[in-house]
Amino acid sequence: MKKRRRDRLFAQPLGNISPFQFDDQVAAVFDDMIDRSVPGYRTIIDAIGLIACQVAQPGSFCYDLGCSLGAASLSVALAQKQPSCTIIAVDNAWPMLAGFQQKLRQQKIPPPIQLICADIRDIAIQNASLVILNFTLQFVPPTDRLALLRKIHQGLLPGGALILSEKIALPEARQQSLFEALHYAFKKARGYSDLEISQKRSALENVMIPESLPVHANRLTQAGFSSCEVWFQYFNFMSLVALK
Ligand SMILES: C[S@@+](CC[C@H](N)C(=O)[O-])C[C@H]1O[C@@H](n2cnc3c(N)ncnc32)[C@H](O)[C@@H]1O
Repeated sequence: MKKRRRDRLFAQPLGNISPFQFDDQVAAVFDDMIDRSVPGYRTIIDAIGLIACQVAQPGSFCYDLGCSLGAASLSVALAQKQPSCTIIAVDNAWPMLAGFQQKLRQQKIPPPIQLICADIRDIAIQNASLVILNFTLQFVPPTDRLALLRKIHQGLLPGGALILSEKIALPEARQQSLFEALHYAFKKARGYSDLEISQKRSALENVMIPESLPVHANRLTQAGFSSCEVWFQYFNFMSLVALK
């Protein structure tokens, strides 16, 4: 197994901080970056495989939207005792997909996984028993989120599920400050310096836009989902399952 490269992208003072992009530099350190930045990321990835075992229907598709290096797709693929659904992994950042392709070459994966380089707002979704948006919706412009969720809802089979994981904003100001401080402490405890944390925060401003849980829940209802339940939360990071 190849040794994971440590994320040092924001370790040196950057005069001009460019907006965050999923480019070659990020792809090279992404596994380490997301593990040390998103509380509970590994737990969520492992649970996605378990959820898929419950909801994936034979002959259907499982979409992993904003798949990055494919952690969620691989979790679904490896959790299935028998190949059941075809996994369609989509990302519009070619460096991320190239990294995923490299991983696939190194592992023997049971069911077929198709990789598509496209904007998730432009692809068709059909015959889906599971759709995964694992920390991706927060990068889609807020004005486009409802249309995307409607399309996902329409493409799901009866009984199909959406897994939505997001960084969330807290509606109450004191809770927002507390949870932000807790996330800061989480990153410090995992070796990020104050400079790294603040420069990355600047790079992500206006690129990643978190919303509150009530906003997500209302939008899911508007998109047609009949129920949604949060199954995981760690500070200001949560994952929910919405059912058609
Ligand atoms: C935080 S990462 C997602 C992590 C990944 N789902 C996982 O579980 O490891 C966000 C990903 O979404 C992709 N992305 C953002 N907006 C997108 C869009 N409109 N269409 C396709 N991919 C998008 C980015 O390129 C990036 O790889």
